Amino acid sequence: MGEGISDYTKFCIDLRRHMWMAGVEMELRRLIWQIAVTGKYISAKIHESNRKLAGFKNMYGEEQLALDKSSDAILKNQLQFSGFVREYASEEQDRIIQIGQGQEKYFVTADPLDGSSLVDTNLAIGTIIGIHNGTMYGKGRETMVAALYITYGPLITMVYSAGKGTHEFVLNREGEYVLSQENIRLREKGDIYSLGGLRRDWTPGHLRFVTDLEAAGYKLRYSGGFVPDINQVLIKNGGVFTYPALRKSPQGKLRLLFELLPMAFLIEQAGGEATDGIRRILDIPVEEIGQRSPIYIGSRYEVEMARRYLEEVEK
Ligand code: F6P
Repeated sequence: MGEGISDYTKFCIDLRRHMWMAGVEMELRRLIWQIAVTGKYISAKIHESNRKLAGFKNMYGEEQLALDKSSDAILKNQLQFSGFVREYASEEQDRIIQIGQGQEKYFVTADPLDGSSLVDTNLAIGTIIGIHNGTMYGKGRETMVAALYITYGPLITMVYSAGKGTHEFVLNREGEYVLSQENIRLREKGDIYSLGGLRRDWTPGHLRFVTDLEAAGYKLRYSGGFVPDINQVLIKNGGVFTYPALRKSPQGKLRLLFELLPMAFLIEQAGGEATDGIRRILDIPVEEIGQRSPIYIGSRYEVEMARRYLEEVEK
């Protein structure tokens, strides 16, 4: 695998073959494959809801809720019959669900439909998955064995890592996920920035960080959907996404277990970095499922730059 794959050959490599060639362990391969397949069902639900929404804007809130719930149900059902998953934690559930018999090794976390409030605007949305071995509590660096996300945009893509690099697949018209980019690598320094939170709520160190990025000519890229925003940094091979600590919410907005750990895993596997400003996301112990954390994620240069500013200005 790697450098030698020609453009022609790579479109013949589907997800299952890629994982097998990359030496991903059999149970993990099957599990990732099954989750990728749920992406097709979730995407079908999104299409259905868009038909219902057309012309009925006032139904939007209800439809969004129904979409979140049905995406969660699709994932849970699929995982229940996999035989490899002991527990399932979802952003849509307030507790962890035991779905296996008790001896399975994998624990799966899901944000089944992140950014679903963007459905009516027809912007991309996504599914985020983390796969842990033995437990989902503790440091992600010690428990995580794989992560993936699926984007529902003009095309459906899937990006996974099982600890052997980060790879992108595109769902083709025949319904197969075919390799589009193997071993995606982030540049040391990028030229785009994507940032959440209101400027008036930012802390002084963060404000200085953003002001300096702007002065250096970084281009703003923010859709309000975590999956497409991270995907842009990854696929453009550099840049930074941040949802910082805010004055009123020092832990920021995004959730550690469901959103941040899987993305940190994928970005580190692509040679980038992910911190809460100071600590690596993968080194922050998960103590409860709803835990939030600020995040700086992307190319090393910008993430390190944020660390310096937060340390200097906020100490
Ligand atoms: O966690 C949900 C989410 O919609 C993310 O997908 C996104 O990055 C963030 O919230 C957007 O937040 P805001 O609306 O504050 O910019």
